[in-house]
Amino acid sequence: MRVTILGGTGFVGSYIVEQLLEHGHEPVLLVRRGSENKVEQPERCWLVPGDVDDADAVHDAVKDSEAVIYNIGIIREFPQDGITFQALHFDGAKRAMNIAETNGVKRFLLMSANGVKSDGTGYQRTKYMAEEVLRSTSLDWTVFRPSLIFGDPRGKTEFAKQLYQDVILSPLPAPLFYEGLLPLDAGSFQMSPIHVRDLATVVVKALTMPESSGKIFPLCGPRTVDWREVIRFIAGAAGVSKPVVPVPVWAVNTVATFFDRFAFFPVTRDQLSMLIQGNTCDSTAVFEALGIEAPIVFDEESLQYVTH
Ligand SMILES: NC(=O)c1ccc[n+]([C@@H]2O[C@H](COP(=O)([O-])OP(=O)(O)OC[C@H]3O[C@@H](n4cnc5c(N)ncnc54)[C@H](OP(=O)(O)O)[C@@H]3O)[C@@H](O)[C@H]2O)c1
Repeated sequence: MRVTILGGTGFVGSYIVEQLLEHGHEPVLLVRRGSENKVEQPERCWLVPGDVDDADAVHDAVKDSEAVIYNIGIIREFPQDGITFQALHFDGAKRAMNIAETNGVKRFLLMSANGVKSDGTGYQRTKYMAEEVLRSTSLDWTVFRPSLIFGDPRGKTEFAKQLYQDVILSPLPAPLFYEGLLPLDAGSFQMSPIHVRDLATVVVKALTMPESSGKIFPLCGPRTVDWREVIRFIAGAAGVSKPVVPVPVWAVNTVATFFDRFAFFPVTRDQLSMLIQGNTCDSTAVFEALGIEAPIVFDEESLQYVTH
């Protein structure tokens, strides 16, 4: 099947493209200027140059396909450069849906995120709005809502490797964030990271499975960990132990108010807010339905790539 993937050059996209090829599909990628060398196996893919705000480029990428995977997403806005959640999570997705509908491309898969809601952060709200629009179209849709995604970034950006570089290698103790005045539950917020290979397998299997039509898949890994364990496992994978220190969320938020818009500042207020909310779900039913028998567990062994 010829499948267009928008956002096929990033961390998750590269694994989806790999899975598409393994399953005998023909990936068509929209590729931004400067991202040409990020394409996985370019000789086996159709490449369409362009940005998602260019309707002609999206049309060229979508028109001859049987399915579209909208996988574009950002974690930090740079409004001065037009890089906003609204533009990339909502406007771009809606543009792709319209173009798919008018060109008779029925199947549409949307990469959303666990915890999206109408009254959440800008990240969560715009992804939720894109889901709502998709549900109102005549498209044959499936939505994926992953928790944090881990796995060998292969030169792209991924949270565990980033934590290793920014936190574990830092001479400072690792921060255990807490809300309120007392650090009684510092670092106790939970998440269930899903491995990128399992996520890519789910997406590509769901693509051709009639039972996945009209479904929203919560996608979490088999192990739930709290922030303390995240730090301990990543440090353990690197063969070190890391001291920790409680840090109040309000203090980070105060600093982030000034530095949010700069790429050098490690965390935005929205990111911190989503981290503290927790990021867990149960995907047992999804894995069973799609025949994924042993999803990869988040532990020191599966995190060995952080030091590579
Ligand atoms: N990583 C996680 O933990 C996580 C968790 C939940 C949900 N998600 C979702 O999963 C999806 C993939 O995330 P990721 O971690 O793989 O992110 P990523 O590595 O940053 O990849 C983002 C992709 O979007 C593309 N993109 C960005 N701006 C674009 C534009 N203006 N026009 C066209 N393409 C554009 C990027 O292209 P370039 O290569 O040219 O930059 C890249 O292909 C996103 O929707 C994200 O919200 C991720």
